[in-house]
Amino acid sequence: MTQTTDWWRTAVIYQVYPRSFADSNGDGIGDLPGITARLPHLKDLGVDAIWLSPFMTSPQHDAGYDVADYCDVDPLFGTLADFDAMRDAAHGLGLKVIIDLVPNHSSSDHHWFQEALTAGPGSEERARYIFREGKGELGELPPNNWDSVFGGPAWTRITEQDGTPGPWYLHLFDTSQPDFDWTNEWVHEQFRGILRFWLERGVDGFRVDVAHGLVKVDGLPDYTPAPGGSMGGDTSDAPYWAQPGVHEIYRDWHKVLAEFGPDRILTAEAWVNPLSKLTDWVRPDEMQQAFNFGYLETPWAAAPLRKVVDASITEFSKVGAPSTWVLSNHDVIRHTSRLALVPPPLQGSGIGPDTEPKPDDAVGLRRARAATAFMLALPGSAYIYQGEELGLPEAIDLPDSARQDPTFFRTGGELYGRDGCRVPIPWEADSPASGFSPTGSSWLPQPKSWPLYARDAQVGVPGSTLEFYRDALALRHEHDLGAGDIDWLTFDDPDVIGFTSGAVTVIANTGAGTVELPAGRIALCSGEAGDGKLPGDTTVWILTAG
Ligand code: GLC
Repeated sequence: MTQTTDWWRTAVIYQVYPRSFADSNGDGIGDLPGITARLPHLKDLGVDAIWLSPFMTSPQHDAGYDVADYCDVDPLFGTLADFDAMRDAAHGLGLKVIIDLVPNHSSSDHHWFQEALTAGPGSEERARYIFREGKGELGELPPNNWDSVFGGPAWTRITEQDGTPGPWYLHLFDTSQPDFDWTNEWVHEQFRGILRFWLERGVDGFRVDVAHGLVKVDGLPDYTPAPGGSMGGDTSDAPYWAQPGVHEIYRDWHKVLAEFGPDRILTAEAWVNPLSKLTDWVRPDEMQQAFNFGYLETPWAAAPLRKVVDASITEFSKVGAPSTWVLSNHDVIRHTSRLALVPPPLQGSGIGPDTEPKPDDAVGLRRARAATAFMLALPGSAYIYQGEELGLPEAIDLPDSARQDPTFFRTGGELYGRDGCRVPIPWEADSPASGFSPTGSSWLPQPKSWPLYARDAQVGVPGSTLEFYRDALALRHEHDLGAGDIDWLTFDDPDVIGFTSGAVTVIANTGAGTVELPAGRIALCSGEAGDGKLPGDTTVWILTAG
């Protein structure tokens, strides 16, 4: 077994989506004091770290991924003092704290952008963002044909102070999210300052948003992506994704983090394929981790799972980085529902009232638990998204009037977007808003079924999803599976996949049939394994020695 000292190599990191985690003041939006109050539950769950999606000052056009002040807390979520209290409480419980950093774009409300608008053409202020003259006789056409990830054009035309039509600015996401110009040293300097601000405040790391997007090809050439791409993942030839220049930025940031000791980390949200390219983000002098979205996108089937696990361990090892594993986050359909959909819908598209066929909740939950048991036994670092430990499904029946994801609006409702995985989570079955908010208020309506999934309805209940996660995390720690080496087992049944890691034998049955289990004590089972037999869509951990 490899001995590691770097905490992040084996850590289980729990994603807190602040607006939907716990609301302390009753306004229907989760906040930092709410997180602080609930932290003991996360300690009890058995995770090592938390990652908080953005809580900085923002007009919330993209749920906080549109930052208007990188060094302050939005009043919706509290104050810097609330952040400090949350950080202290987390550290007091032995939990590391990772925060989200959004460097590809700011909010259009940021004073840097507002100054760029007023300062006028040719100014230093305008050089902070990507402004270009339009095409056409009067500049009335966008500078190129790029589309926004959320739908619609990636350019918006401005009006100059004197009322005349001006140039266009680039926004790979919403029109309220102008892209920075990372060819400008001024931008680099600002972000070094932002990193230091939070590092001095004691954060243990940053999840870097759109870490594949900051640098664009010179001249911004036209580009038409192949249909069906995700957040840029398989469109590796796009002139705005995965450009070599991004790596200079992360080498620079690596040094900034090193000023604060060896334990602070950068994690890349980079939708980049293939894995051999993604690992460029985690070379020894760049980031420490990168999200393994290839794993997230793998269907629940033995052969593709084996392939992606092998490729991940091989490729990440080549650069000395741990592999990461993730099944859900705030951008994708919860795996409890996604794994019951064949084929799964495109990343970011969401599901809603008109989606057919709908996922079967029971099938989805069974597969999700089996997939989680498989994931948590793998070596490396694993991510858990809030609510998955409760077995929450995607919220499908959200009314259009409640939806907030810009994807829904920018596609004219053609794509439901990501609201279904962002609904506030249930804590106590009999409390208002299932314990999310003291007033019963909730920024997205909670499904009627939510009390069934509430934490207090599961705690201490044998076989509940919560107890299953707790057991899995405790055993993972006990057997140091995060630092393990896996050896594959072979099976006659093509739906079965398994491996040993130290004393633990992991067997997952992704099919519908029943499989004979080897001798040994069952330490964990995602479902029910009676009489030495493993039913379909179930994973077991068996102790074979020691
Ligand atoms: C990332 C975030 C997503 C956000 C987008 C733009 O992909 O995870 O939620 O909308 O970046 O910042």
